[in-house]
Amino acid sequence: MHKIPYSKPWLTSDEERATAHTISSGRLILGPEVRAFETSLATFTGRQRAVAVTSGTTALQLALHALGVNQHYSVLVPAYTWVATWNVVHWLGAEPVMIDVDPSTFCIDPNDFERALASCSRTHRAILPVHMFGFRVDPTWLDAMVHRHNLTLVGDGCCAFGGEHQGLRCGAWTPVECLSFHPRKVITTGEGGAILTDDHELADRLERLRDHGAHRSREQRRQTTQGGLMTPEFPEPGHNFRMTEMQGALGRVQMERVHTLIQARKTVASRYDELIAAQIPWLKLPPGQHDPGRVLTFYPVQLQIPEASPTQILAMKTHLVTFMASHGIAVRTPMIDLVNQPFTRESAKGYDFPGAQHTFLHTLGLPFFPQMTREQSETVVQKLAEFTPTLHALLKSGASS
Ligand SMILES: Cc1ncc(COP(=O)(O)O)c(C=O)c1O
Repeated sequence: MHKIPYSKPWLTSDEERATAHTISSGRLILGPEVRAFETSLATFTGRQRAVAVTSGTTALQLALHALGVNQHYSVLVPAYTWVATWNVVHWLGAEPVMIDVDPSTFCIDPNDFERALASCSRTHRAILPVHMFGFRVDPTWLDAMVHRHNLTLVGDGCCAFGGEHQGLRCGAWTPVECLSFHPRKVITTGEGGAILTDDHELADRLERLRDHGAHRSREQRRQTTQGGLMTPEFPEPGHNFRMTEMQGALGRVQMERVHTLIQARKTVASRYDELIAAQIPWLKLPPGQHDPGRVLTFYPVQLQIPEASPTQILAMKTHLVTFMASHGIAVRTPMIDLVNQPFTRESAKGYDFPGAQHTFLHTLGLPFFPQMTREQSETVVQKLAEFTPTLHALLKSGASS
Protein backbone atom coordinates (compact mmCIF):
# COMPACT_ATOMS: atom_id res chain seq x y z
CA MET A 1 0.00 0.00 0.00
CA HIS A 2 1.30 3.43 -0.91
CA LYS A 3 1.37 6.08 1.83
CA ILE A 4 0.08 8.53 -0.75
CA PRO A 5 -2.30 6.60 -3.00
CA TYR A 6 -3.01 7.39 -6.62
CA SER A 7 -6.66 7.91 -5.90
CA LYS A 8 -9.09 7.51 -3.02
CA PRO A 9 -12.85 8.03 -2.92
CA TRP A 10 -14.25 10.31 -0.21
CA LEU A 11 -16.93 8.31 1.57
CA THR A 12 -18.57 9.09 4.90
CA SER A 13 -20.85 7.44 7.44
CA ASP A 14 -23.76 8.88 5.42
CA GLU A 15 -22.86 6.65 2.47
CA GLU A 16 -22.43 3.73 4.88
CA ARG A 17 -25.86 4.27 6.45
CA ALA A 18 -27.60 4.71 3.11
CA THR A 19 -26.17 1.52 1.61
CA ALA A 20 -26.86 -0.46 4.80
CA HIS A 21 -30.44 0.78 4.69
CA THR A 22 -30.98 -0.64 1.19
CA ILE A 23 -29.85 -4.02 2.46
CA SER A 24 -32.34 -4.00 5.30
CA SER A 25 -35.08 -2.74 2.96
CA GLY A 26 -34.89 -5.88 0.86
CA ARG A 27 -35.20 -3.87 -2.35
CA LEU A 28 -31.87 -4.41 -4.07
CA ILE A 29 -32.25 -3.51 -7.75
CA LEU A 30 -33.65 -0.48 -9.66
CA GLY A 31 -35.71 0.94 -6.82
CA PRO A 32 -36.25 4.34 -5.18
CA GLU A 33 -32.55 4.94 -4.50
CA VAL A 34 -31.60 4.47 -8.16
CA ARG A 35 -34.49 6.75 -9.16
CA ALA A 36 -33.39 9.42 -6.68
CA PHE A 37 -29.81 9.18 -7.92
CA GLU A 38 -30.98 9.54 -11.52
CA THR A 39 -33.08 12.58 -10.63
CA SER A 40 -30.17 14.26 -8.87
CA LEU A 41 -27.86 13.59 -11.83
CA ALA A 42 -30.38 15.02 -14.30
CA THR A 43 -30.96 18.09 -12.13
CA PHE A 44 -27.26 18.73 -11.59
CA THR A 45 -26.38 18.43 -15.27
CA GLY A 46 -29.50 20.25 -16.47
CA ARG A 47 -30.72 17.28 -18.47
CA GLN A 48 -34.22 15.90 -18.74
CA ARG A 49 -33.23 12.33 -18.01
CA ALA A 50 -30.48 10.18 -16.51
CA VAL A 51 -30.49 6.41 -16.94
CA ALA A 52 -28.24 4.64 -14.44
CA VAL A 53 -26.43 1.46 -15.43
CA THR A 54 -23.67 -0.81 -14.15
CA SER A 55 -20.60 1.07 -15.41
CA GLY A 56 -19.33 3.74 -17.77
CA THR A 57 -18.50 0.98 -20.23
CA THR A 58 -22.05 -0.40 -20.26
CA ALA A 59 -23.40 3.16 -20.51
CA LEU A 60 -21.38 3.64 -23.71
CA GLN A 61 -22.41 0.28 -25.09
CA LEU A 62 -26.09 0.83 -24.32
CA ALA A 63 -26.15 4.36 -25.74
CA LEU A 64 -24.49 3.28 -29.00
CA HIS A 65 -26.80 0.27 -29.26
CA ALA A 66 -29.92 2.36 -28.63
CA LEU A 67 -28.85 4.82 -31.32
CA GLY A 68 -28.62 1.94 -33.79
CA VAL A 69 -24.87 1.45 -34.01
CA ASN A 70 -24.18 -2.05 -35.35
CA GLN A 71 -21.99 -3.92 -37.81
CA HIS A 72 -22.82 -1.42 -40.54
CA TYR A 73 -21.09 1.38 -38.65
CA SER A 74 -17.58 2.73 -38.41
CA VAL A 75 -17.07 4.58 -35.12
CA LEU A 76 -14.37 7.21 -34.65
CA VAL A 77 -12.62 6.82 -31.28
CA PRO A 78 -9.63 8.79 -29.98
CA ALA A 79 -6.37 6.86 -30.14
CA TYR A 80 -5.49 7.97 -26.59
CA THR A 81 -8.25 6.96 -24.19
CA TRP A 82 -9.27 4.21 -21.81
CA VAL A 83 -9.60 0.91 -23.64
CA ALA A 84 -13.34 0.74 -22.84
CA THR A 85 -14.00 3.34 -25.54
CA TRP A 86 -12.62 0.98 -28.19
CA ASN A 87 -14.01 -2.22 -26.67
CA VAL A 88 -17.66 -1.16 -26.72
CA VAL A 89 -17.45 -0.43 -30.45
CA HIS A 90 -15.83 -3.81 -31.04
CA TRP A 91 -18.49 -5.71 -29.10
CA LEU A 92 -21.28 -4.04 -31.08
CA GLY A 93 -19.75 -5.50 -34.22
CA ALA A 94 -18.94 -2.02 -35.52
CA GLU A 95 -15.56 -0.94 -36.86
CA PRO A 96 -13.49 1.15 -34.40
CA VAL A 97 -11.56 3.78 -36.36
CA MET A 98 -8.92 5.65 -34.42
CA ILE A 99 -8.45 9.35 -34.66
CA ASP A 100 -5.36 11.08 -33.31
CA VAL A 101 -5.35 13.32 -30.23
CA ASP A 102 -3.74 16.67 -29.59
CA PRO A 103 -1.23 16.41 -26.72
CA SER A 104 -2.01 19.97 -25.65
CA THR A 105 -5.75 19.26 -25.10
CA PHE A 106 -5.65 15.45 -24.53
CA CYS A 107 -8.72 15.31 -26.82
CA ILE A 108 -9.39 14.48 -30.48
CA ASP A 109 -7.15 16.38 -32.89
CA PRO A 110 -9.42 18.05 -35.48
CA ASN A 111 -6.50 18.05 -37.93
CA ASP A 112 -6.68 14.27 -38.15
CA PHE A 113 -10.43 14.13 -38.72
CA GLU A 114 -10.52 13.97 -42.53
CA ARG A 115 -7.88 11.24 -42.66
CA ALA A 116 -9.73 9.18 -40.06
CA LEU A 117 -13.09 9.64 -41.79
CA ALA A 118 -11.61 8.58 -45.13
CA SER A 119 -10.39 5.34 -43.54
CA CYS A 120 -13.91 4.28 -42.41
CA SER A 121 -14.96 1.22 -44.34
CA ARG A 122 -18.57 0.69 -43.22
CA THR A 123 -21.69 2.38 -44.63
CA HIS A 124 -22.61 4.51 -41.60
CA ARG A 125 -20.47 6.60 -39.26
CA ALA A 126 -20.54 7.52 -35.62
CA ILE A 127 -18.16 9.39 -33.32
CA LEU A 128 -17.33 8.74 -29.68
CA PRO A 129 -15.45 11.86 -28.51
CA VAL A 130 -13.81 11.56 -25.09
CA HIS A 131 -13.71 14.62 -22.82
CA MET A 132 -10.36 13.47 -21.54
CA PHE A 133 -9.49 14.09 -17.86
CA GLY A 134 -12.28 16.71 -17.66
CA PHE A 135 -11.41 18.71 -20.81
CA ARG A 136 -14.29 19.21 -23.19
CA VAL A 137 -13.88 18.36 -26.86
CA ASP A 138 -14.22 21.63 -28.83
CA PRO A 139 -18.03 21.89 -29.16
CA THR A 140 -18.06 24.21 -32.19
CA TRP A 141 -15.86 21.88 -34.19
CA LEU A 142 -17.74 18.77 -33.01
CA ASP A 143 -21.17 20.19 -33.90
CA ALA A 144 -19.96 21.20 -37.34
CA MET A 145 -18.52 17.74 -38.10
CA VAL A 146 -21.57 15.88 -36.77
CA HIS A 147 -23.88 17.91 -39.01
CA ARG A 148 -21.68 18.00 -42.07
CA HIS A 149 -21.05 14.24 -42.06
CA ASN A 150 -24.32 13.08 -40.50
CA LEU A 151 -22.50 11.32 -37.66
CA THR A 152 -24.22 9.48 -34.83
CA LEU A 153 -22.81 11.03 -31.67
CA VAL A 154 -22.31 9.65 -28.17
CA GLY A 155 -20.15 11.66 -25.76
CA ASP A 156 -17.73 9.84 -23.46
CA GLY A 157 -17.71 11.92 -20.31
CA CYS A 158 -16.57 8.94 -18.22
CA CYS A 159 -13.64 10.86 -16.80
CA ALA A 160 -15.10 14.36 -16.93
CA PHE A 161 -18.12 14.52 -14.62
CA GLY A 162 -18.11 17.67 -12.49
CA GLY A 163 -16.53 19.86 -15.17
CA GLU A 164 -18.25 22.98 -16.44
CA HIS A 165 -17.69 24.66 -19.80
CA GLN A 166 -19.57 27.56 -21.41
CA GLY A 167 -22.27 27.30 -18.74
CA LEU A 168 -22.85 23.58 -19.28
CA ARG A 169 -21.86 20.77 -16.98
CA CYS A 170 -20.39 17.53 -18.26
CA GLY A 171 -23.36 15.29 -18.90
CA ALA A 172 -24.77 18.05 -21.10
CA TRP A 173 -21.74 18.57 -23.35
CA THR A 174 -23.17 16.30 -26.06
CA PRO A 175 -26.83 15.33 -26.67
CA VAL A 176 -26.28 11.78 -25.39
CA GLU A 177 -23.50 11.64 -22.84
CA CYS A 178 -22.12 8.80 -20.74
CA LEU A 179 -20.62 9.02 -17.26
CA SER A 180 -18.69 6.64 -15.05
CA PHE A 181 -18.81 6.37 -11.26
CA HIS A 182 -15.74 4.19 -10.82
CA PRO A 183 -13.97 4.93 -7.49
CA ARG A 184 -11.47 7.24 -9.20
CA LYS A 185 -14.21 9.53 -10.48
CA VAL A 186 -15.62 12.72 -8.96
CA ILE A 187 -18.53 10.80 -7.46
CA THR A 188 -18.57 7.04 -7.06
CA THR A 189 -21.03 4.19 -6.79
CA GLY A 190 -18.25 1.56 -6.71
CA GLU A 191 -18.89 0.46 -10.27
CA GLY A 192 -21.58 2.42 -12.06
CA GLY A 193 -22.45 4.65 -14.95
CA ALA A 194 -25.24 6.70 -16.48
CA ILE A 195 -26.51 8.04 -19.77
CA LEU A 196 -27.76 11.63 -19.82
CA THR A 197 -30.13 12.96 -22.45
CA ASP A 198 -33.03 15.32 -23.08
CA ASP A 199 -34.71 12.82 -25.38
CA HIS A 200 -37.51 11.12 -23.42
CA GLU A 201 -38.17 8.51 -26.06
CA LEU A 202 -34.52 7.51 -26.11
CA ALA A 203 -34.36 7.46 -22.29
CA ASP A 204 -37.44 5.20 -22.12
CA ARG A 205 -35.79 2.83 -24.58
CA LEU A 206 -32.52 2.91 -22.62
CA GLU A 207 -34.45 1.98 -19.49
CA ARG A 208 -36.03 -0.98 -21.29
CA LEU A 209 -32.77 -2.09 -22.86
CA ARG A 210 -30.86 -2.05 -19.55
CA ASP A 211 -33.48 -4.53 -18.26
CA HIS A 212 -33.37 -7.15 -21.04
CA GLY A 213 -35.66 -5.08 -23.25
CA ALA A 214 -38.71 -5.70 -21.01
CA HIS A 215 -41.58 -3.52 -22.23
CA ARG A 216 -42.92 -3.07 -18.70
CA SER A 217 -40.67 -1.55 -16.06
CA ARG A 218 -39.98 -3.18 -12.72
CA GLU A 219 -42.12 -0.53 -10.99
CA GLN A 220 -45.05 -1.24 -13.30
CA ARG A 221 -44.64 -4.97 -12.75
CA ARG A 222 -44.58 -4.53 -8.97
CA GLN A 223 -47.63 -2.30 -8.99
CA THR A 224 -49.91 -4.49 -11.04
CA THR A 225 -52.32 -6.74 -9.14
CA GLN A 226 -53.23 -8.86 -12.13
CA GLY A 227 -51.04 -11.94 -12.13
CA GLY A 228 -51.19 -12.32 -15.91
CA LEU A 229 -49.66 -8.90 -16.41
CA MET A 230 -46.69 -9.62 -14.17
CA THR A 231 -44.75 -11.24 -16.99
CA PRO A 232 -43.27 -8.61 -19.25
CA GLU A 233 -42.93 -8.96 -22.97
CA PHE A 234 -39.54 -8.60 -24.60
CA PRO A 235 -40.08 -6.92 -27.95
CA GLU A 236 -36.34 -6.66 -28.61
CA PRO A 237 -33.20 -8.17 -27.10
CA GLY A 238 -31.64 -6.14 -24.31
CA HIS A 239 -28.96 -6.42 -21.65
CA ASN A 240 -28.71 -6.78 -17.92
CA PHE A 241 -27.13 -3.43 -17.08
CA ARG A 242 -29.37 -2.78 -14.06
CA MET A 243 -27.95 -0.67 -11.28
CA THR A 244 -28.37 -1.99 -7.74
CA GLU A 245 -29.99 -0.06 -4.92
CA MET A 246 -26.71 -0.17 -2.98
CA GLN A 247 -25.02 1.65 -5.86
CA GLY A 248 -27.99 4.02 -6.19
CA ALA A 249 -27.85 4.88 -2.49
CA LEU A 250 -24.12 5.53 -2.66
CA GLY A 251 -24.62 7.74 -5.68
CA ARG A 252 -27.52 9.64 -4.14
CA VAL A 253 -25.50 10.52 -1.06
CA GLN A 254 -22.41 11.40 -3.12
CA MET A 255 -24.61 13.74 -5.17
CA GLU A 256 -25.77 15.45 -1.95
CA ARG A 257 -22.08 16.26 -1.41
CA VAL A 258 -21.14 16.87 -5.05
CA HIS A 259 -20.28 20.56 -4.65
CA THR A 260 -17.95 19.77 -1.74
CA LEU A 261 -16.33 16.95 -3.71
CA ILE A 262 -15.79 19.23 -6.71
CA GLN A 263 -14.43 22.10 -4.65
CA ALA A 264 -11.98 19.78 -2.90
CA ARG A 265 -10.63 18.57 -6.25
CA LYS A 266 -10.27 22.14 -7.47
CA THR A 267 -8.29 23.04 -4.36
CA VAL A 268 -5.94 20.07 -4.70
CA ALA A 269 -5.42 20.77 -8.43
CA SER A 270 -4.62 24.48 -7.90
CA ARG A 271 -2.19 23.60 -5.14
CA TYR A 272 -0.36 21.21 -7.47
CA ASP A 273 -0.40 23.87 -10.24
CA GLU A 274 1.36 26.34 -7.95
CA LEU A 275 3.86 23.95 -6.41
CA ILE A 276 4.86 22.33 -9.70
CA ALA A 277 5.09 25.62 -11.61
CA ALA A 278 7.43 26.92 -8.90
CA GLN A 279 9.65 23.87 -8.51
CA ILE A 280 9.54 21.42 -11.42
CA PRO A 281 10.43 23.01 -14.76
CA TRP A 282 10.52 19.62 -16.51
CA LEU A 283 6.82 18.97 -15.95
CA LYS A 284 4.10 20.57 -18.02
CA LEU A 285 0.93 21.36 -16.09
CA PRO A 286 -2.49 20.21 -17.26
CA PRO A 287 -4.27 22.95 -19.24
CA GLY A 288 -7.00 25.21 -17.84
CA GLN A 289 -5.24 26.41 -14.68
CA HIS A 290 -7.22 29.62 -14.66
CA ASP A 291 -10.50 28.10 -15.79
CA PRO A 292 -12.95 28.06 -12.84
CA GLY A 293 -14.95 25.29 -14.58
CA ARG A 294 -12.01 22.89 -14.68
CA VAL A 295 -12.63 19.80 -12.57
CA LEU A 296 -10.03 17.10 -12.98
CA THR A 297 -10.61 13.40 -12.51
CA PHE A 298 -6.88 12.76 -12.75
CA TYR A 299 -3.98 15.19 -12.41
CA PRO A 300 -2.06 14.58 -15.67
CA VAL A 301 1.40 16.09 -16.10
CA GLN A 302 3.66 15.74 -19.14
CA LEU A 303 7.41 15.44 -19.17
CA GLN A 304 8.74 18.42 -21.09
CA ILE A 305 12.38 17.78 -21.89
CA PRO A 306 12.69 18.64 -25.59
CA GLU A 307 16.25 17.38 -25.87
CA ALA A 308 15.30 13.88 -24.58
CA SER A 309 14.70 11.08 -27.08
CA PRO A 310 11.60 8.85 -26.75
CA THR A 311 13.83 6.11 -25.30
CA GLN A 312 15.14 8.54 -22.69
CA ILE A 313 11.65 9.76 -21.83
CA LEU A 314 10.53 6.18 -21.30
CA ALA A 315 13.56 5.52 -19.10
CA MET A 316 12.88 8.69 -17.10
CA LYS A 317 9.25 7.74 -16.60
CA THR A 318 10.12 4.24 -15.48
CA HIS A 319 12.76 5.46 -13.05
CA LEU A 320 10.47 8.19 -11.76
CA VAL A 321 7.57 5.82 -11.04
CA THR A 322 9.97 3.45 -9.24
CA PHE A 323 11.59 6.29 -7.28
CA MET A 324 8.22 7.69 -6.19
CA ALA A 325 6.99 4.20 -5.25
CA SER A 326 10.09 3.73 -3.08
CA HIS A 327 8.88 6.77 -1.11
CA GLY A 328 5.35 5.39 -0.83
CA ILE A 329 3.90 7.59 -3.58
CA ALA A 330 1.76 6.12 -6.36
CA VAL A 331 2.37 7.60 -9.82
CA ARG A 332 0.78 5.99 -12.88
CA THR A 333 0.20 6.26 -16.62
CA PRO A 334 -3.48 7.23 -16.54
CA MET A 335 -4.65 6.16 -20.03
CA ILE A 336 -3.31 4.12 -22.95
CA ASP A 337 -2.50 4.70 -26.59
CA LEU A 338 -4.57 2.26 -28.58
CA VAL A 339 -1.97 2.17 -31.35
CA ASN A 340 0.32 -0.02 -29.28
CA GLN A 341 -2.15 -2.51 -27.84
CA PRO A 342 -1.85 -5.94 -29.47
CA PHE A 343 -5.56 -6.23 -30.24
CA THR A 344 -6.18 -2.65 -31.41
CA ARG A 345 -3.02 -2.21 -33.47
CA GLU A 346 -4.63 -3.78 -36.51
CA SER A 347 -7.30 -1.10 -36.61
CA ALA A 348 -4.55 1.57 -36.79
CA LYS A 349 -4.26 0.55 -40.46
CA GLY A 350 -0.58 1.44 -40.61
CA TYR A 351 -1.02 5.02 -39.37
CA ASP A 352 1.27 6.14 -36.52
CA PHE A 353 -0.96 8.48 -34.46
CA PRO A 354 1.94 10.70 -33.39
CA GLY A 355 -0.24 12.78 -31.05
CA ALA A 356 -1.56 9.77 -29.15
CA GLN A 357 1.88 8.18 -28.93
CA HIS A 358 3.42 11.43 -27.73
CA THR A 359 0.66 11.91 -25.16
CA PHE A 360 1.00 8.38 -23.83
CA LEU A 361 4.80 8.55 -23.68
CA HIS A 362 4.96 11.90 -21.88
CA THR A 363 1.94 11.77 -19.54
CA LEU A 364 1.94 10.67 -15.93
CA GLY A 365 -0.84 10.87 -13.37
CA LEU A 366 0.14 12.14 -9.94
CA PRO A 367 -1.71 11.10 -6.76
CA PHE A 368 -4.97 13.01 -6.84
CA PHE A 369 -8.00 12.73 -4.58
CA PRO A 370 -10.35 15.14 -2.82
CA GLN A 371 -9.02 14.65 0.70
CA MET A 372 -5.38 15.05 -0.30
CA THR A 373 -3.75 17.32 2.27
CA ARG A 374 -1.37 20.22 1.62
CA GLU A 375 1.34 18.20 3.32
CA GLN A 376 0.78 15.26 0.97
CA SER A 377 0.87 17.52 -2.11
CA GLU A 378 4.08 19.12 -0.84
CA THR A 379 5.65 15.70 -0.24
CA VAL A 380 4.84 14.61 -3.80
CA VAL A 381 6.35 17.76 -5.31
CA GLN A 382 9.37 17.63 -3.01
CA LYS A 383 10.09 14.06 -4.13
CA LEU A 384 9.68 15.11 -7.78
CA ALA A 385 12.24 17.85 -7.14
CA GLU A 386 14.60 15.30 -5.56
CA PHE A 387 14.37 13.25 -8.74
CA THR A 388 15.75 16.10 -10.87
CA PRO A 389 19.45 15.06 -10.64
CA THR A 390 18.57 11.50 -11.73
CA LEU A 391 16.66 12.94 -14.65
CA HIS A 392 19.69 14.97 -15.73
CA ALA A 393 21.95 11.96 -15.33
CA LEU A 394 19.64 9.87 -17.51
CA LEU A 395 19.66 12.59 -20.12
CA LYS A 396 23.46 12.76 -20.14
CA SER A 397 24.02 9.02 -20.25
CA GLY A 398 21.41 8.45 -22.99
CA ALA A 399 20.19 5.65 -20.71
CA SER A 400 17.39 3.26 -21.44
CA SER A 401 15.14 1.68 -18.83
C1 LIG B 1 -12.54 7.74 -21.07
C2 LIG B 1 -13.19 6.58 -20.40
N1 LIG B 1 -14.16 5.91 -21.04
C3 LIG B 1 -14.79 4.86 -20.48
C4 LIG B 1 -14.46 4.43 -19.21
C5 LIG B 1 -15.15 3.24 -18.63
O1 LIG B 1 -15.80 3.50 -17.41
P1 LIG B 1 -16.01 2.31 -16.36
O2 LIG B 1 -14.70 2.00 -15.76
O3 LIG B 1 -17.00 2.86 -15.39
O4 LIG B 1 -16.59 1.14 -17.12
C6 LIG B 1 -13.46 5.10 -18.50
C7 LIG B 1 -13.08 4.66 -17.16
O5 LIG B 1 -12.14 5.08 -16.57
C8 LIG B 1 -12.80 6.20 -19.11
O6 LIG B 1 -11.82 6.87 -18.49
